[in-house]
Amino acid sequence: MKTGKKTKNVFVWGWIAAIVLLLCAFHISKGKTDTEKALDYCDRQVRRTLQELRDANGNIDYTMMPRNIMDSLTTWHCRKASKEEWCSGFWPGILWYDYEYTGDEAIRKEAEKFTASLEFLACTPAYDHDLGFLVFCSYGNAYRLTGDKRYKRVILDVADSLGTLFNSRVGTFLSWPRNVSHYGGHNTIMDNMINLELLFWAAKNDGNPYLGDMAFSHAEKTMKHHFRPDYTSYHVAVYDMLTGNLIKGVTHQGYADNSMWARGQAWAIYGYTMVYRETKDPRFLEFVQRVADVYLNALPEDHIPYWDFNAPDIPNAPRDASAACVVASALLELSTYVSFPKNEYYKECAVKMLASLSSPAYRCGKSKPAFLLHSTGHWPAGSEIDASIIYADYYYMEALLRLRKMEQKEKEERNN
Ligand code: GLY
Repeated sequence: MKTGKKTKNVFVWGWIAAIVLLLCAFHISKGKTDTEKALDYCDRQVRRTLQELRDANGNIDYTMMPRNIMDSLTTWHCRKASKEEWCSGFWPGILWYDYEYTGDEAIRKEAEKFTASLEFLACTPAYDHDLGFLVFCSYGNAYRLTGDKRYKRVILDVADSLGTLFNSRVGTFLSWPRNVSHYGGHNTIMDNMINLELLFWAAKNDGNPYLGDMAFSHAEKTMKHHFRPDYTSYHVAVYDMLTGNLIKGVTHQGYADNSMWARGQAWAIYGYTMVYRETKDPRFLEFVQRVADVYLNALPEDHIPYWDFNAPDIPNAPRDASAACVVASALLELSTYVSFPKNEYYKECAVKMLASLSSPAYRCGKSKPAFLLHSTGHWPAGSEIDASIIYADYYYMEALLRLRKMEQKEKEERNN
């Protein structure tokens, strides 16, 4: 009889505790913006991924970086951090973003350990242009958030290494040294624009000042030769190594030489927004708006591009959520450089993209530990089609953090 009463009491108190917890959770999430709820989602997925990366003894191999989850699978395919694996910096970068959002020291420790796996790049000759992706997403965020000088040293050494790929006759970086004979000349790819950020940063932060001049030259020459008259971009520009003249514009990951490959155009929008930030040269601001507008005018209704705007099987062609993430992040920044009404237009476009990406149509939710579905890596090679890809998640979280900062600033301004 006594035991029965005790069991009943435990049962009642259990229910009361559960209801209180539910009310607390409801209260906490009620006070949150949609942007914060999306960041909470990212945080949950980050923790799931960390859990998944542990072996049976609870240990993590910090050299293995999550890269993708194919459509039919539910766990990460990881690749070893190396100079050839251009995506090795995104996962450490995501951990730094998650630390920035949560302030959780346990996440910071994981970020530090994954980041350290890329230190070897500071004493490795440049393999290709991807050093910016590799080191600015990882070490760049690490230094920005901690101010630890050891991170700065690695960034500066890697920037010097990237500088060796500059060809002063052409005026741009050789993106893929391994592909010179394949393309018949000095090749520069649109993605290379992103890696200029590392160089501008190094030049302004005690590194070699000429790195900034090289980055400027690359941006100018690319603006001149890497775009068609309608401001859509080629993926690859091939130059004569000796004269520096343009030989041809071709594709590598797009549908055709003359098509608008979605992520290539996304890199251009992000790249020239960053170049304007770093140089304040108004030509770049004028230019990036044209490059962004041609992309925005061609988007489907849900604001997420098909992998190539000229894919012949649209509307059945795969999407590229990663391009949408890159563009959303870029447009939020671009909106702060232009005046009304374009500032509001770019911000609204970015918000719509993020809302679409955050909907069940694009979120992994409980099905997988990545943030997003439906990115396309390399359609012509048949790889990473309609997959979760780590760089989509990186730029999604970056865009959400940028939006949150803007919303907090607007709130403060309203309250003052
Ligand atoms: N090569 C980088 C990209 O796939 O966008």
